[in-house]
Amino acid sequence: MWDFFETVRHRRSIRKYQTDTPVEAEKLNAVLETACAAPSAGDIQAYHITVVHNEQIRKKLAEAASRQQFLSEAPVVLIFSAEPVRSAARFGERGAKIYALQDATIAAAYAQLAVAAAGMTSTWVGDFNEQQVREILGLEADQIPLSLLSVGYPAEVAELSPRRHLDEIISWR
Ligand SMILES: Cc1cc2nc3c(=O)[nH]c(=O)nc-3n(C[C@H](O)[C@H](O)[C@H](O)COP(=O)(O)O)c2cc1C
Repeated sequence: MWDFFETVRHRRSIRKYQTDTPVEAEKLNAVLETACAAPSAGDIQAYHITVVHNEQIRKKLAEAASRQQFLSEAPVVLIFSAEPVRSAARFGERGAKIYALQDATIAAAYAQLAVAAAGMTSTWVGDFNEQQVREILGLEADQIPLSLLSVGYPAEVAELSPRRHLDEIISWR
């Protein structure tokens, strides 16, 4: 088992999956529990997670995501949707516009790290038709799908991609 910093260092987006190797139920549960352990505004967890195993649905999601076929090849796709109404009930407009999106995004980021720690890989897909995804999954009108995560065992090794230098990103006051 990797420690936290190794997990962060080794996580990378891989878009080729071992299509015949399923994700074990215990690992999937651990990923979902880790996502739901993420911080959220007011501890409200203003998001919904849809778990898709079904191949037909994964194919439809791939079509709705600019034909990114790896979504249909990964054995599991997790969809993180914001629930702004839930957050607005406590925090008004700021809750709806910002907190719900942040809650869902942080949960998805935690899920990606848990996937890596469990020896698997994931890719975050943000390029998709929101309305089509909503219809494919039967989401409520007030649920906003934000990220589709393809999850599975990698079928290739990917290099770590270079990052901007810290000095470019960070300022100290
Ligand atoms: C908001 C967001 C949207 C993204 N959308 C896509 C996408 O539609 N398709 C894709 O292949 N990768 C997508 N990615 C993955 C990035 O391309 C990837 O994280 C980045 O190139 C860094 O590589 P790494 O994850 O291996 O470190 C997205 C990532 C984020 C955070």
